[in-house]
Amino acid sequence: MSLNAERSYKMKLRDVENAFKYRRIPYPKRSVELIALLAISCTFFLFMHTNKLNSRLKEMEVKLQPSEFSALGLTGNHISGHDAGKHDDINTLHGTYQYLKSTGQLDSLRSERLNNTRHSQLDVVFFNRNAKVGSEALMELTQTMAPHNNLTVLTKGPLNINSRTRSPPEQMVQALWINELDSGTIYIEHCNWLNFHRYQLPRPIYINLVRDPVERMISWYYYVRSGYRNAIHHRRFPNTTIKSEKWFKKSYNDCVRSGDPECQYVPGSVKEAEGNYKRQTLFFCGHNRECLPFDSQRAIQLAKINVERDYAVVGTWEETNITLTVLEAYIPRFFKGVRDIFEMNSKSIRNRNRNNRKPRIDPDVREMVRRNFTNEYEFYYFCKQRLYKQYLALQLENNLS
Ligand SMILES: *[C@@H]1O[C@H](CO)[C@@H](O)[C@H](O)[C@H]1NC(C)=O
Ligand SMILES: *[C@@H]1O[C@H](CO)[C@@H](O)[C@H](O)[C@H]1NC(C)=O
Ligand SMILES: *[C@@H]1O[C@H](CO)[C@@H](O)[C@H](O)[C@H]1NC(C)=O
Ligand SMILES: *[C@@H]1O[C@H](CO)[C@@H](O)[C@H](O)[C@H]1NC(C)=O
Ligand SMILES: *[C@@H]1O[C@H](CO)[C@@H](O)[C@H](O)[C@H]1NC(C)=O
Repeated sequence: MSLNAERSYKMKLRDVENAFKYRRIPYPKRSVELIALLAISCTFFLFMHTNKLNSRLKEMEVKLQPSEFSALGLTGNHISGHDAGKHDDINTLHGTYQYLKSTGQLDSLRSERLNNTRHSQLDVVFFNRNAKVGSEALMELTQTMAPHNNLTVLTKGPLNINSRTRSPPEQMVQALWINELDSGTIYIEHCNWLNFHRYQLPRPIYINLVRDPVERMISWYYYVRSGYRNAIHHRRFPNTTIKSEKWFKKSYNDCVRSGDPECQYVPGSVKEAEGNYKRQTLFFCGHNRECLPFDSQRAIQLAKINVERDYAVVGTWEETNITLTVLEAYIPRFFKGVRDIFEMNSKSIRNRNRNNRKPRIDPDVREMVRRNFTNEYEFYYFCKQRLYKQYLALQLENNLS
């Protein structure tokens, strides 16, 4: 940082501190009671409404003619072998399309807030990369793309920490640092969502990735047992004891079935027996204490609000084509031509950080784990449906023009 930049940075820091000091305006007692009453009645109303919507959603399983689907250029190539045969599932592109159409909501897609790039105030992308979702591959893709779109890719922030969670002063330092980045920078690091609104700072273009919650856990389990990871880990933390051979050989099936603490995912728990990043939502929820309990409804609610308001794109490698198409269309300054670049380099990018040791996981084990991730699944499906909506909105535009 130059001297000038440092000075303006310090001034901003002081401004932010002042803003904090004068934030709280006490309300008279009466109005507090009134507000509480109002809040309770609103909550109740919304609760009733949600229930009604849920039952309507179940009723609406109207089948759609495939020809209509392909007329929009939706070839359905997202349906993998695994999903084939249940493609009217609401959590697929086809299912989302069908649902929107049957409820008359397709036309309103255009007025929905799907393009958050418009509302970001910085020409900087902040990819606060989620763990075990293939974020390393997207990182490599942005590096390959950088010269084409005149981008600067940064994979280190102002803080030298390994954790995704930051203390309040660290959050502020990082937010201010992001605000000083040059236009055209992509900043990529493991970090929970940062609250730029709270510091009254301009907000960057947020992006991230999600992945099926149970797949993430299996991936993590075998990742920590891989030679690659252990070599890196040992170099960084030479004093940690090396795990036993038994630990290395333990299968995920046995780990879950025997109730081994390493494979216990208890809803509401805050402390993990082993750090395993089981809370995918934490990356999107942020640093609020309410974000901490695993699989809590409140945490996913906060995470959804942040995604809807702040994230330009939350993609997934499970839908590579859709994700890249949406990135390119919604953040063209940064992702123009990304599909072509991916096609040309896909072999090396796909193999990035790939772990080939992925033994068979029994279906009942998968089911046991899945049951404890109910809310995590809801968040994951929420993100995917939003991605499908963004994609469908593009197809509609293309068909009109
Ligand atoms: C992705 O799209 C490209 C063309 O844009 C196509 O060649 C390819 O088969 C698609 N891949 C998948 C997995 O659907
Ligand atoms: C590339 O970006 C840098 C920094 O934003 C800018 O100074 C430079 O003019 C840009 N170059 C081109 C060719 O657009
Ligand atoms: C690692 O262990 C050595 C000897 O046991 C000790 O001197 C050193 O301070 C330890 N380093 C850390 C980072 O704990
Ligand atoms: C799921 O959570 C319950 C507690 O709600 C716990 O008893 C059980 O062991 C957990 N199962 C797994 C596989 O984490
Ligand atoms: C979204 O907004 C950005 C920035 O204004 C713009 O460049 C892009 O074309 C928009 N994309 C869509 C699909 O509306």
